[in-house]
Amino acid sequence: MFLFPKAIVLLFNISRCIPCQFFFGLMETLHFPSCYHSNFSDVFDVEYFINALSNDVPIVKKLPRELASAPKAHKQFKSWSGAKYYKEEITQLWDQYKIIRASKSDSRLANNDLPSYIQKLRCRVHYHALRFAPPIEALGKKLVERMRSDGPFIALHLRYEKDMLAFSGCSYGLLDEEVEELTFIREMTPHWKVKLINSTEQRLKGFCPLTPKEVGIFLLALGYPSSSRIYIAAGEIYGNGSMTELQARFPNLLSKELIATPDELAPFSGYASQLAGLDYIVSVESDVFIPTYSGNMARAVEGHRRFLGHRKTIIPDRRRLVSLFDELDLGLTQEEFSYRVSEMHRKRQGAPRKRKGPLAGTKGRERFRTEEAFYTNPLPDCLCQKNNTRHDKRILNR
Ligand SMILES: *[C@@H]1O[C@H](CO)[C@@H](O)[C@H](O)[C@H]1NC(C)=O
Ligand SMILES: *[C@@H]1O[C@H](CO)[C@@H](O)[C@H](O)[C@H]1NC(C)=O
Ligand SMILES: *[C@@H]1O[C@H](CO)[C@@H](O)[C@H](O)[C@H]1NC(C)=O
Ligand SMILES: *[C@@H]1O[C@H](CO)[C@@H](O)[C@H](O)[C@H]1NC(C)=O
Repeated sequence: MFLFPKAIVLLFNISRCIPCQFFFGLMETLHFPSCYHSNFSDVFDVEYFINALSNDVPIVKKLPRELASAPKAHKQFKSWSGAKYYKEEITQLWDQYKIIRASKSDSRLANNDLPSYIQKLRCRVHYHALRFAPPIEALGKKLVERMRSDGPFIALHLRYEKDMLAFSGCSYGLLDEEVEELTFIREMTPHWKVKLINSTEQRLKGFCPLTPKEVGIFLLALGYPSSSRIYIAAGEIYGNGSMTELQARFPNLLSKELIATPDELAPFSGYASQLAGLDYIVSVESDVFIPTYSGNMARAVEGHRRFLGHRKTIIPDRRRLVSLFDELDLGLTQEEFSYRVSEMHRKRQGAPRKRKGPLAGTKGRERFRTEEAFYTNPLPDCLCQKNNTRHDKRILNR
């Protein structure tokens, strides 16, 4: 992407960003990453975006001709920077260069302590300007209607996919040859820096996505009946037979592949970001949303649901859950297990609260890293704040 004082240029061919990261990069900074299989216009409605923000930021699709040969700076903005950084350091760059190319776009802006007009602009970008491209919106809407026509449903973001497991080093419950394959992928992926991971320790720390089997046990413990309809928001689930135990507990598992026709899905096949867009739409509109891992998409959906009226999102406490699962294996009664799981999640269901600040005791950049991200919880910035009224009036109409 190129920035110059009065405009942001959409540049379509910058690569370098992993699938699904698009929500993140984009929403965090008003910049335009493009993923390697899809670019901005394949996933989002560009015209709508430009028009929706026309009173805030002039955006152009191409560099104006007179700037084609202007001096360019290549800059990686510092993560979690506040207004001062942009007003002072980056503004100075304009003295020498007419164009600044921002080479990274995720988390370049601080979550907190920004002027309110910046936070409000962020809200407009996240929840108003950003829409999926019309074909994604249209099919997404149909999927939601089909799910709703049979009653309430849960959307489960089941992040039990090959890339996730390879990256996180989580292989609990998988076969030896599957573990080998995952390890091989990790070793061969240069930008994943951590190569040696102890899967057992990783799981005990709560760093692993819940397995499909664990999710089934978890949902039953929370009191969801076996007849619950569950939309699986995910790509291909990894592991031979890994869905069997979830399917046995909850036979009504649905997915875009099951509720859309092959013809409807065909235009999107092979485009991970576009398929993720369909899952995003269904997840935002579900009655209950449950992510099995706190990745970018899960957090974006969580924040979006908060914005739309504190819709129920159950965030599993993975660290405490895995030790309870282990206790269950060692003979904890089902009743005691259910009671403890329910208690543990009483306050993890998306009720309104202010965004959390940094973890106590952290310093420097670590402080920023431990803050709850703006896009996970846009409260209170994106809601009107009036005393003596319910805090559910939105600034924006969608
Ligand atoms: C990116 O978008 C352009 C048009 O907007 C399209 O022609 C091109 O094929 C897209 N690239 C990829 C990798 O999808
Ligand atoms: C992984 O960690 C567990 C628990 O700390 C330990 O028992 C096990 O030996 C470790 N495995 C390897 C291969 O180091
Ligand atoms: C998967 O498991 C089934 C049943 O255990 C077995 O018949 C099949 O060969 C396995 N497939 C692969 C690819 O390992
Ligand atoms: C709302 O009330 C609190 C305390 O009652 C006060 O500190 C705050 O300034 C008020 N906010 C507004 C927007 O009036």
